[in-house]
Amino acid sequence: MKVGLSIEANRPVMVSCIRSLVICIIICALWTIPFLVAFPNSCINLPNQPLHGKFTITGQFIMRIKCLAPNTDLPMNAAGSGGVLICDPNGKDLTELPPLYDPPCLEYKKPKEVHIPVTLTYTSDTCDTANITSVENALSQLQSNNLKSLRTICGTQLTCFYTTADVECANNYNFIQQGGSKQIDATFKIHANYEQTLSNSFYLNVLKDIRKNMFATDQGISGTAQLWNIHGIQFVYADITAWTASCSGFNRTSGSNLAIHGIASCRGCPNHTLHYAGDRCDPCPFNHYTTTDFASKCVLCPPEYKWGASREKWIKICYERP
Ligand SMILES: *[C@@H]1O[C@H](CO)[C@@H](O)[C@H](O)[C@H]1NC(C)=O
Ligand SMILES: *[C@@H]1O[C@H](CO)[C@@H](O)[C@H](O)[C@H]1NC(C)=O
Ligand SMILES: *[C@@H]1O[C@H](CO)[C@@H](O)[C@H](O)[C@H]1NC(C)=O
Repeated sequence: MKVGLSIEANRPVMVSCIRSLVICIIICALWTIPFLVAFPNSCINLPNQPLHGKFTITGQFIMRIKCLAPNTDLPMNAAGSGGVLICDPNGKDLTELPPLYDPPCLEYKKPKEVHIPVTLTYTSDTCDTANITSVENALSQLQSNNLKSLRTICGTQLTCFYTTADVECANNYNFIQQGGSKQIDATFKIHANYEQTLSNSFYLNVLKDIRKNMFATDQGISGTAQLWNIHGIQFVYADITAWTASCSGFNRTSGSNLAIHGIASCRGCPNHTLHYAGDRCDPCPFNHYTTTDFASKCVLCPPEYKWGASREKWIKICYERP
């Protein structure tokens, strides 16, 4: 249940009850001091149920929504703090309330490292475990043989290294002309430190040289086949993507592509929003908040009696939507 509320009328006392099947909310609007004495705390029933309606009054008064469950009352006496008012006596997720705005998404942090994802593809006649193990061992040997030339390409300002290859074997549908009934994909990354003092074009030139000298995708793979040749299987394809931010230091963020975004950054959702789908951050449901950027879940807001001096803050975080 929700009730849009703004302060507009100029009548001295506005006291009302709104009743629904689920929750009963009693709205009591009380004038401040001089009137409080004249009009003590009392309630009248609103004639209709303004389920999604507006209750408008103006003037100076203290207003309180009284919920029929302990510790769920919501005071609305903070100046300019009108908004959607709810009682959430069972502390349930109020998922039926749609998010009312898209907050600025994609808070970002600077990563310490960037990486280039690499996939080397081979074909073979078998996916035997023994074969896969020998491919893993062969690749690890090839990586260490090739590390020196990788380091030469990366130069003195970048410390480049390979991660261990992850090898998968499946039916060969993509490279059937090259023979072999099985396709073996070995994926690994080339890591390097990310320094903002080095320009993007510096990184992009290194990427170009790595591609040309280590994988030769422009001229096909024959030029560097010997670098990644594994006895008994055929090297058919190399995929060397782009410098991407390494975000393992920041949970629930994803790394930007240096060439596309012009910066390597780890992007995720800012405080009080959550990543549900796509490239969006949505606010937590009403009466929920997060305690940190890049949060994994929204948690229930504290009850009013715990708000203390932070009343305005909690109303803003938990109940207001711009
Ligand atoms: C894969 O296994 C076959 C037979 O089991 C063997 O002839 C071949 O050398 C193996 N290939 C590799 C790369 O280990
Ligand atoms: C990331 O999540 C893992 C697993 O939940 C946790 O152990 C680790 O401390 C988190 N790292 C950061 C930087 O929050
Ligand atoms: C997120 O919001 C909570 C609640 O107001 C606050 O305690 C915390 O410091 C905020 N964290 C960040 C990173 O802003």
